[in-house]
Amino acid sequence: MIRAELFGMVTGFVPTNTIASGNMLEMLLRRREFMLPVQAAARDDDDELLWRCLSETMRFKPINPGPFRKCAKDYTIAEGSPDATRIRAGTRLLVSTQSAMFDERSVVEPKKFRPDRPKHESMLFGYGLHWCIGAFLAAAQITHTFKPLLKKRGLGRARGRTATCRPSA
Ligand code: HEM
Repeated sequence: MIRAELFGMVTGFVPTNTIASGNMLEMLLRRREFMLPVQAAARDDDDELLWRCLSETMRFKPINPGPFRKCAKDYTIAEGSPDATRIRAGTRLLVSTQSAMFDERSVVEPKKFRPDRPKHESMLFGYGLHWCIGAFLAAAQITHTFKPLLKKRGLGRARGRTATCRPSA
């Protein structure tokens, strides 16, 4: 178990933080109302607020739609409610945390950028038993990678056409 966790830490770091940071930057460049508070937090060296702003940015473009699961035994989701749904053992599921984070029955003003959200409204790092073991590392690394960039004056997209990948002739 210790080996598995250590290797998980080594390999888990590269794709997740890279995609998450790219997604955050894309959203910041797209939405000025996200960029302004993020830049203010960076200039104030308020790391805690900066991470809350960046992770709220990521809620709008998470690294995946949610985890895939295989149902181990027959189970009823929301048992006793009108939405009760029976899942048979062996069923493959996409548990869409992305959708859950925009469910206005549980999340206050989900479409608004609110860095002051309570933690339970974000499922970016999963939930329960498999909650991301690297979440605190991710927060530290991403916050400190972004900070110098966000402090730059005139931060914006480069001029010119959007880069596209074309197969070579
Ligand atoms: C912003 C960056 C990251 C995001 C959004 C993220 C997201 C997630 C999510 C959603 C899960 C749960 C997967 C599931 O339930 O099946 C998870 C698990 C995990 N993450 Fe991350 N992660 C990030 C960064 C990292 C980093 C930096 C590391 C390692 C240093 C890491 C290592 C792991 C490992 C080992 C697990 C499996 C935990 C378990 O199954 O008990 N992640 N991550």
